[in-house]
Amino acid sequence: MSRLSRRILPALAALAMGVVANHSSAQTFPTRPITVIVPFAAGGPTDTVARLVAEQMGRDLGQAVVVENVGGAGGTLGAQRTASARPDGHTLLIHHIGMSTIPTLYRRLSYDPVNGFEPVGLITEVPMTIIGKRNLAANNLQELVTLVRRERQGINLANAGVGAASHLCGLLFQSALNVQLTTVPYRGTGPAMNDLVGGTVDLMCDQTTNTTEQIRAGTVRAYAVTTPTRLGSLPDLPTANEAGMPGFEISIWHGLYAPRGTSPEIVARLSTALQAALRDPGLTRRFQDLGTEPVAQERATPDAHRTFWQADVARWRPIIQAAGQFAD
Ligand code: MLT
Repeated sequence: MSRLSRRILPALAALAMGVVANHSSAQTFPTRPITVIVPFAAGGPTDTVARLVAEQMGRDLGQAVVVENVGGAGGTLGAQRTASARPDGHTLLIHHIGMSTIPTLYRRLSYDPVNGFEPVGLITEVPMTIIGKRNLAANNLQELVTLVRRERQGINLANAGVGAASHLCGLLFQSALNVQLTTVPYRGTGPAMNDLVGGTVDLMCDQTTNTTEQIRAGTVRAYAVTTPTRLGSLPDLPTANEAGMPGFEISIWHGLYAPRGTSPEIVARLSTALQAALRDPGLTRRFQDLGTEPVAQERATPDAHRTFWQADVARWRPIIQAAGQFAD
């Protein structure tokens, strides 16, 4: 055997083993339960979406898909945990529009908020509602605007930290009215809702996947929904457009991610399982009851979500830079 062959053959063998291992790992994936990290506290809107999706993905994958709540720092702690996980497909992240705003809001992160992930697919886009504690001295959005402009920092506005959807909506609400309220951060809008219902915080802008049932139960005051037209799930709730804040529209998209370096074969398998979950009639009914619905199948793919996400990061960068409010 030539000296050259003696040097090349082991490298070729190692390369072949690597390819086989990769291919076989995709063929046998998943080999154990999968963890989906939700970067907010349990009981909130992201958690609600994630648990519905995780259950159905598990059915398609033949393994349990378990939600782990890692709240804090506006969702960056959970995102960081995912970015540093082994890229073997068994640790995933479900996060929302914060994946587009965090790259600009946070200037000193211990992980790469864009290149640290492999997008698997888009899940849903969720409307937001402006809600208040039951005894807030405003019967409709117009009266709320008057109250907020009069009381300003006397009003406590709950959110889930800088980078959360509730933070983003609160920023847009305050800048639309040219006021600065007192913000009260939580590890998620699940716990924030408890304080709103309890009357210890005044106001919140939160997703219908967390507010619909409270609004129906009358435990909070509902002022507006941030969609162009009223929701079938909350037909009596006016849009911000018709109630006195024209143009105040925002919806919160949610996506599924794996750590950077997860093989394309495993990412593709996860996307197939996500698409199967989004076709489930029970999941669709639950989403619709909460004011949203699964995205079209072609948006729940890695390439489609990468294109959508990268464009959204670029869209929010100048808006956030112009506002000049950063997390660090
Ligand atoms: C949550 O799940 O707690 C919310 O998505 C937090 C937020 O983004 O407002």
